[in-house]
Amino acid sequence: MAALKVSGTIRVPGDKSISHRSLILASLAEGESRIRGILDSDDVRSTAEALRSLAAKVPPLADDMRVNGSGLRGLRQPRHALDCGNSGTTARLLAGVVAAHPFSVRFEGDASLSRRPMKRIAEPLTYMGAQFDFEHGDGLPMTVHGVDLRSIDWDTGGSSAQVKSAILLAGLISAVEVRVIEKSRSRDHTERILRAMGVDVESDGNQVCLRPIGRLNPIELEVPADPSSAAFFVALASLASEGELTLTEVCLNPTRTGFIDALIRMGAAVETEKTVSTGGEEVGSLSVSPAQLKSISIGEAEVPTLIDELPLLACVAAAAGIELEIRGAAELRVKESDRISAVVHNLRTVGADAEELPDGLRVHVSRRPMAGTVDPRGDHRIAMAFGILSAASGNRITVTNPECVAVSYPRFWEDLRRVTA
Ligand code: S3P
Repeated sequence: MAALKVSGTIRVPGDKSISHRSLILASLAEGESRIRGILDSDDVRSTAEALRSLAAKVPPLADDMRVNGSGLRGLRQPRHALDCGNSGTTARLLAGVVAAHPFSVRFEGDASLSRRPMKRIAEPLTYMGAQFDFEHGDGLPMTVHGVDLRSIDWDTGGSSAQVKSAILLAGLISAVEVRVIEKSRSRDHTERILRAMGVDVESDGNQVCLRPIGRLNPIELEVPADPSSAAFFVALASLASEGELTLTEVCLNPTRTGFIDALIRMGAAVETEKTVSTGGEEVGSLSVSPAQLKSISIGEAEVPTLIDELPLLACVAAAAGIELEIRGAAELRVKESDRISAVVHNLRTVGADAEELPDGLRVHVSRRPMAGTVDPRGDHRIAMAFGILSAASGNRITVTNPECVAVSYPRFWEDLRRVTA
């Protein structure tokens, strides 16, 4: 591996999951909410625009913005379909919102989102009384016919924050009690923000219960830096041969820190300093220096805590020349791309040794120098993971369509150049 030196302090953009939720919940509150540090990216813009179509008063995204909520019954039927772009969170969370309103809405998305399964939210919301019409299979376009919903006690059989959040939002608006049980706990930002807005939400292990409330208080929220975006630089500094990187104000919610835990198990040198928490989230800074990494495997139980970081972890293993096995992660096949296929295909293209498993992948030790052209299949996280592999290996790895990072981290390439300069 070429000598890579990293240096500097970096504050990556705001958390994507929290940004979507802050806009949706602020729109449903009674009164003015203030959101600071929201992520301005294509996905969050999709949520903002969809909310505006539903008559919410969402101003242009800005670092310090105020949203005047219209209350739990203030949204109106849009004049046209909601375009969710590439964003699964927009489609699934807003389906939960629309299901509880007395009108019908058509949801559309780009080619990638249209291939992603919506049955997982249609099933519980249909049980609650809403109706779903699909045009092809269970992907978008879909039309949601909302009603006054009834209470639900739902075992998702998996672990999905989008499904859990759709049910919580539906229960909140219809003012009915809802309980969701998961296989293992998915990210819990919705629960934390709801509690901060005065809602009775009780979590117990893998279960969450929301009890009816007539109104939602406005919130003052500071969106912490996205741990999924920070992960790229934690990986880079671990793979470097010299220097140190500091990442500040990172969301350290334990349902999101699986990647850091996995890297530490690999031998990474990550020092964490927890600082103040905002909006019910733990926040802190991370100092990362180069380390000799070793082989690990990832099993089903920890997958939800690092699901979005698994492509990056595979690239870290390839760059470090270590073995990695990931199992219990079939969910990767229905993300923005089939991420198992996209990662393995591209790793092989650049000369690494990797194989697909039905529910994961393996990376094997390979001493070949890596070079070649990577096609991220329009998937932001694949593009950034290979951007890190390219920087770490010092070889000529070209990522086509690099601008697809705009979905979650528009200034990724600039930040990468800055810390490696
Ligand atoms: C998200 C939840 C996760 C994650 C996605 C964002 C969210 O998906 O992969 O990038 O904001 O709720 P699942 O709901 O499928 O776990």
